[in-house]
Amino acid sequence: MAKVPPGVGPRFPQVVVLFGATGDLAKRKLLPGLYHLCAAGFLPDYRIIGVSLDDIDTAAFSARTREALAQHFNRPIADDDWAAFAERLAYVPLSAGAAALAAAAARAEASIGQDSQRLHYLSVPPSAALSAVRTLGEAGLMANARIVMEKPFGTDLASAVKLNRAVHEVFAEEQIFRIDHFLGKEPAQNILAFRFANGLFEPIWNRNFIDHVQIDVPETLGLGQRSAFYEQTGAYRDMVVTHLFQILGFMAMEPPTSLEPQPISEEKNKVFRSMLPIEPGDVVRGQYNGYRDEPGVDPQSETETFIALKCFIDNWRWAGVPFFLRTGKRMAEGQRIISIAFREPPKSMFPPGSGVGAQGPDHLTFDLADASKMSLSFYGKRPGPGMRLDKLSLQFAMRDTGLAGEVLEAYERLILDAMRGDHTLFCTAEGIEQLWQVSTKLLESPPPVRLYEPGSWGPKSVHQLIAPHAWRLPFERAWRNPNQSGA
Ligand code: BG6
Repeated sequence: MAKVPPGVGPRFPQVVVLFGATGDLAKRKLLPGLYHLCAAGFLPDYRIIGVSLDDIDTAAFSARTREALAQHFNRPIADDDWAAFAERLAYVPLSAGAAALAAAAARAEASIGQDSQRLHYLSVPPSAALSAVRTLGEAGLMANARIVMEKPFGTDLASAVKLNRAVHEVFAEEQIFRIDHFLGKEPAQNILAFRFANGLFEPIWNRNFIDHVQIDVPETLGLGQRSAFYEQTGAYRDMVVTHLFQILGFMAMEPPTSLEPQPISEEKNKVFRSMLPIEPGDVVRGQYNGYRDEPGVDPQSETETFIALKCFIDNWRWAGVPFFLRTGKRMAEGQRIISIAFREPPKSMFPPGSGVGAQGPDHLTFDLADASKMSLSFYGKRPGPGMRLDKLSLQFAMRDTGLAGEVLEAYERLILDAMRGDHTLFCTAEGIEQLWQVSTKLLESPPPVRLYEPGSWGPKSVHQLIAPHAWRLPFERAWRNPNQSGA
C-alpha cells in the first residue's frame, strides 16, 4: 500500500482502546479504517486493544479482525502489512474487568514508549456508553487520552444531559470527540468550501432567493444484524437528530470567523438554537412491511424505519424557508442528496406551452455519495424554431478530477482528526442537547407509524408533506456519465 508522507497523522504513537470491538460498526468500518491508517503509515506506531462482551482471546479477535478485513476492506491486503497489524492487536473481554484493561494498556504503553497517547473509541449503544466510560475511569486511563463517542448521544434531552454530566465526571470536554461520520464525508466538507470559498452563491444563500431545501437520504439496506439496536432507536434518533441535522447545520450556518473548531461549532449551534420545535403534524413516520417479523423486533413494534419531516430555522437568513428531511430503510434507492430549490422568477414572458416551470424550479443539488457530485439545473432554450424550454444542467463529479482516489473514508478521516486533537468536524454537548430540545415535542407525541412497501419511497403521505412542491428523488434525469458517448 502506498505510504503517506510523515507529519500528516498524529505526532505520537497511539494506544487505541476499542469498546464494541466485535460489533457491526467495528467490523464494517472501524477495524478496516484503523488497518488502512496503520498500513498506509499515518501513525508513528500504535497498539489496538479490543474490548467487548464476547469471551474470546487475542488470537480469536485477530482472526475475526482478519475476516472483517476480508469482507469490508476494499483494497489489497499485503501479508507483511497484516502481520505488522496483527502483532499490535490485543483483546480484553469486558467480563475481565477494569484491572485487566489497565494491565493490557500498561503492556501496550510499555511496548511503544512513554510519549504515547490514548484514544478510547466507544462503539457501543447509548445504554452501554456510561458503563464503558466508568470502566475507563476505574482502569485509570483518563490521562493523555481522547475519547470518541458514537451517536446517538442519549435518547432524549434528559438522557443526553445525564450522559454528558456523567462523562464529564471522568473526561474533560476537550478530551471528548462526539463523532458523526457524515461530517467526515468529503462532500459534506465540500459544502463549506463551495459556500465560503466562492463569491457566486453566498449572496443568494438565503430566504430571498431560496424557496425550500431538501435533505434526502433514502437507503436500500435493511437492518441485518442490527434490528435489536434499531428497535430501541428508530430512524429519527439513528439518522435525523444526528446526521441529517448536522448536514443541515453546514448547509445553513453563517460564515464562521475562521475554520477553527470553536467558530464552526458556534455557528452550527446558532442554527440549532434558531430551529423551531419539530411539530408532530409536520412529520411522517413509516415502517416497512415485514419489519415486525424480523428477529429481535417486537411484533407490535411502533419503531419507525422511515421518517420525513418539515422544519424551520427561524433566523434572518432562513425564516419561512421549509427544510424537508427524509430518510428510511428498505427504500427504492440508496442516495444522499441536498437539493436547494430557487424561487421562481416573478413573471414569465414565455408563451404558454413553452415548458417554463414544467419541470420544477431551478435547483442546486449536492450528492453526498463518497465521490462527490454537484449539479445546477436551469431552464434553457431547446435548439430550433420558436421558444421551447428544457431543463438543462451543469454537472461536476469529483471522479473527473482524478483526485477521487485520495479520499479517506469518513471514519478514517475522523479517527485521524481525533488522534490529532482536532475537534472541527465533531459535535459539541451544547449542540446535541439543543437538537434534543428541538425534538422534545415530537418524541413526546410521535404520530402513528404508517406502513410502506419495501422498495418504495415511503408512505403515501410524504407527498402531502411537501406539497405543493415535490421530492427531487427519484431523479427525472440521471446524472450524466462522462464516459458515455453523446453525454
Ligand atoms: C449510520 C446509521 O450511522 O449511518 C445507519 O446507524 C446508516 O443506520 C448509516 O445506514 C449510513 O451511513 P453511510 O455512510 O453508509 O451512508
